[in-house]
Parts: sequence; C-alpha cells; structure tokens
Amino acid sequence: MTAERNPSPHVRAAHHLVRAAILAPSLHNSQPWLFACSDNALLLYADHRRRLPFCDPYGRQLVISGGAALFNLRLAMRHLGFRPVVRPFPDPATPGLLARVEWGAFARVTHDVEAMHQALRHRHTHRGPFASADVPPSLIEALTRHTQVEGVQLYALEDTATRRRLSRLVHEAEARERHNPGFRAELLDWARPYGDARGDGVPAAARAFHPDCVALAGRDFTGLTRQRDTARPRETWPARTGLVIVLSTPHDTRQDWLRAGQALQRVLLYTAGHGFAAGFHTQPLEFADLRALVRTLAPTGQHPQLVLRLGRINWQVRAPRRALSEVLPRNDLAPAGTGHAA
Ligand SMILES: Cc1cc2nc3c(=O)[nH]c(=O)nc-3n(C[C@H](O)[C@H](O)[C@H](O)COP(=O)(O)O)c2cc1C
Repeated sequence: MTAERNPSPHVRAAHHLVRAAILAPSLHNSQPWLFACSDNALLLYADHRRRLPFCDPYGRQLVISGGAALFNLRLAMRHLGFRPVVRPFPDPATPGLLARVEWGAFARVTHDVEAMHQALRHRHTHRGPFASADVPPSLIEALTRHTQVEGVQLYALEDTATRRRLSRLVHEAEARERHNPGFRAELLDWARPYGDARGDGVPAAARAFHPDCVALAGRDFTGLTRQRDTARPRETWPARTGLVIVLSTPHDTRQDWLRAGQALQRVLLYTAGHGFAAGFHTQPLEFADLRALVRTLAPTGQHPQLVLRLGRINWQVRAPRRALSEVLPRNDLAPAGTGHAA
C-alpha cells in the first residue's frame, strides 16, 4: 500500500493509524520506523538506517521508540472502536519486524482511551524548567498502574539522596558525551537550526534553554557548554526540575525494550492528558557502567530503560514529523532498511 490518492476505506483507516503512530517520541527525533499494510493488519518495522551508532549501538532506544509508535497504533485502533491484536516480533526471519497489529473485535471506547488519544497531538518533549514541579501522588499511582499493564516498573525518585545520585550519574554521562567527538557530531547532526524545513531532528525552539539549567543535565545539542560565553547558564532552576522517574523492565531483551516503549508512551500521553509534560535524560543508560549504577537506585533492581522528569508547563514546542509517504512506502514487501536485527 502506498499513500495514494482516493484511497479505499481500509487504506484510509490504515493512514489514520500510521498518522497517530508517527507522533511518537524517538531518540533525537530520528523516527526510526516504517510501516506496511496487509488486508487485516498493519506491520511496524524498525528502520535501521536511522539508528544512532554512538548513543544507541545496540538499537535499544530504537526499539523503545518503535514501542512508543506501537502504543499509538494500538490507541488509534481502540479510538476507532476495535481491539488491537498485537503480535510482537512475529517473524524470526525478519528481526526488523517489530510488530504485527491486527484489527480485533469491537470494543467500547473508554474515557482513558479518549483522553490519551486527544493528547496525541499536544504531547511534546520538554527541555528546561517546569512551570510547576508539583506532581500529585494520584498521578504517580495512575502512571504506575499504566506501566504495570505493559509489564514495566515505574519508580519515582522521591527522596533527595537518591535524586542526587541519579543527577550525578546524568552529569557524568553528559560530560563523557560532551567530550567525545563521535557523540558530539552525532548530536549536531540531528540539531536543526531555526527555519529548517526537514521533517526530523530536534528544532532550535525545542532546545531554547541552556542544557544545565535544571538539576539533571540535558543534551548539549549545539556545543553551548564548550563556548566561553555560554559554558554556564545565566540562570538555573534546580527546584523546577520536576519529579524524576525511572522505567525499568525485568529483563533486557528486545521484547522488554518494545514493552518499555509502549509503557513510555502510556506515561507520556496520560501525563499530557492531565496537563503535565515530560523531559528525557537517558544519557547514563548509554554507558554500561553508569547504567549498572542507575539500576541500583530502584529497590527491585530491574533493568532501567528510561529516565524522565515530569512537571507542569505553560508553553509547548512542536517537533516536525516526516510525511506519511516516507514511512508507508509499500504494501507487499518488507520496506528497505528493515532486515537487520536491532
Ligand atoms: C528512547 C528515547 C530517548 C530519548 N532521550 C532523550 C534525551 O536524552 N534528551 C532529550 O532531550 N530528549 C530525549 N528524547 C526525546 C526526543 O528527543 C523527542 O521525542 C523527539 O525530539 C521528538 O520530539 P517530541 O517528543 O516533542 O515529539 C528521547 C526519546 C526517546 C524515545
């Protein structure tokens, strides 16, 4: 199937699902996914040409990004009134095929489904201080339930000592990346200047704050911290860092990564539906030694997959997405770039 003119109703329904899927977050907005459609199913592939070799040598974050897109597909199908039937990694001969999603039986649309579906378009990644860092315990409890449904653990770092330890690990990872020419070049490659028309990468407006302005170091997309005038932020807001949470999985397989991505997107959409936003700080998970230390912070010792902070915001910046025709290239064959294991 291509994104043709005057498509049939089933093709239009597939377009609706893919339009929702591509709103998912992805590492550096790399959008490492491709889709194909068969009669009763949508196929979600990893696009390995869009993997980031420095930040993500094993494709862990690529599969997490795919998992977030998969959750959006499921949600869009539920919004249309059908229960998705998901087969993760259905074909061992095609490891790049992340999931097959079939149209299942009719299912009544619930309030949570509607609220999360409405949040699809206004959810955005936040970088900088939050307007308010107060996250009510009822929201954390709801998010914990949502992640459990996906087989993922949410751990909120509510005590100061643990938060400080995590902050040190994020700083250490960020320092390593800022001093490594490979990491720096990779990040710069995805940093878009003002006015750029490309459909991927992180726009300038979405990284307007200094990366060191809150308690957790952010990615230094354009090398601000290496220039004398901008090495330090003019103002900092450690008290507006927000609530820090870690999402972890019992094991560290590709199935776990896909589950982590779906849980991530549940967290992000539920949060957005309640007027909150999230920032990502996944840098310490990109070094085996630092990741092992993050693992010791949660009492259950599961494998950390994502580090997020949550809070309220009063402004949003939209990151671009590629056109539907770029991610839904063909009906019949596995799209190019999907054949390798992550
Ligand atoms: C697995 C994963 C890791 C990410 N890590 C970071 C990060 O460390 N720092 C950051 O600023 N954003 C991070 N992001 C957020 C992406 O940059 C963001 O999703 C992308 O730019 C698209 O923007 P949007 O989320 O506003 O749609 C991550 C996203 C994913 C899915």
